Amino acid sequence: MATRFEPVGALRGTLRPPPDKSISHRAALIAAMGEGETTIEGYLDAADTRSTLAAIQTLGASVSGGDPGTGAGQGAVKRELRIRGVGMRGPQEAGIDVGNAGTLLRLLPGWLAGQETGAWTLDGDASIRRRPVDRIVEPLREMGAELSCREGRLPPLEVSGSPLRGITYEMPIASAQVKSCLLFAGLLAEGETKVIEPLSSRDHSERMLAAAGAEIQRDGQAVAVQPVGRLEIDRIVVPADFSSAAFFIVAALLVEGSDVGIDDVGLNPTRTGLIDVLKRMGAQIEVEPGGEEGGEPIGTLVARSSKLRGTEVGGAEVPLAIDELPLVALAACFAEGTTTIRDAAELRRKESDRIETVATALNALGGKVETTADGMAIEGTGGLRGGSVNAAGDHRIAMLGAVAGLASKEGVEVHGMDAAAVSYPGFEADLAALLGGGTGTS
Ligand code: S3P
Repeated sequence: MATRFEPVGALRGTLRPPPDKSISHRAALIAAMGEGETTIEGYLDAADTRSTLAAIQTLGASVSGGDPGTGAGQGAVKRELRIRGVGMRGPQEAGIDVGNAGTLLRLLPGWLAGQETGAWTLDGDASIRRRPVDRIVEPLREMGAELSCREGRLPPLEVSGSPLRGITYEMPIASAQVKSCLLFAGLLAEGETKVIEPLSSRDHSERMLAAAGAEIQRDGQAVAVQPVGRLEIDRIVVPADFSSAAFFIVAALLVEGSDVGIDDVGLNPTRTGLIDVLKRMGAQIEVEPGGEEGGEPIGTLVARSSKLRGTEVGGAEVPLAIDELPLVALAACFAEGTTTIRDAAELRRKESDRIETVATALNALGGKVETTADGMAIEGTGGLRGGSVNAAGDHRIAMLGAVAGLASKEGVEVHGMDAAAVSYPGFEADLAALLGGGTGTS
């Protein structure tokens, strides 16, 4: 079924996007590793993070509470979700369906691999079966883990518990998922485990593990963890997801007359690279830091329609904006001049090959996007005509198509809009609220 997004006018108002997906996954996993009960205030109730709750229940953790939030923008919120953990060495043997969740697929094996006994299988949907796991299998094997996977690199992934030893691992690519997996494994290993990243990636795991009592040391690009007998964390507060807010930030910039406020949003600097990129393009974005909540910086953002120019994105900026690079490409279509995105080959390994799916989508709408091995070159033409986009089962491509429709001349028909529920089930309702009552979609 297709959903049309028409160019119906300015977006105005203030919104609190749903809770952060990355932080929600970690909250559930770390609570499951813990002793006693953890209360999570504002757990994301979306397909990916439901997979994580189901996984920890299969492993023996108990989950209660989690009433839905009420009011605007609260549709994907579980309030006061309580998780009783099984302890570091307590997960039961199980077959785990990770659904579409790459983060669950990469993080959970770190914990399981270090168990004294037991065997687990992780598998998921068709997209998950194309997502490489060799990036965690190789370093975990170096630590002494026993794992096997299909064709040496793809799920299903089988993990057997075995004694682990700490290693120093220089990651070939910046990946928060790989880093987190190895830190989890390091909690159970003998001696210190040190992970060295080529570039900084999101550091939510480090922050949350430290809050739960793990000994975490950071030194430049290195992060080290010591083995720990128990983790305990009473309460985790999840901020709104910057990656979800990003769709409305870019929509506000592109649709004339727009003025959109985003409240209580996570502003961890390892996540907000998009703001710097867009500001360089000429975007009017105001950031008001609002202190810390649960060890994570939060604040308020305001974005207004802006005239944009092309820019270059590469190097250290890439991991800080990895999930928002599709939106940079969209904004670049509306800019004056050319935008190049480099050093972003990782985009090919996301929920879809996002270099190809973004270029295909934008070109179908009248954009001028050329792909390269590790990025894209986008010639700004000042706008997009409109047309039809296939979400390719990828939540971020679905929402990209919707934003493109609002800013286009003729509207965009998105095929597979339901994919948005992976991270943002209330996306269309929140969009309707900013459009003043639901005239934007049909
Ligand atoms: C995530 C890390 C990123 C990101 C993904 C979520 C996480 O992946 O693209 O959407 O929660 O750790 P990589 O760390 O593999 O780049």
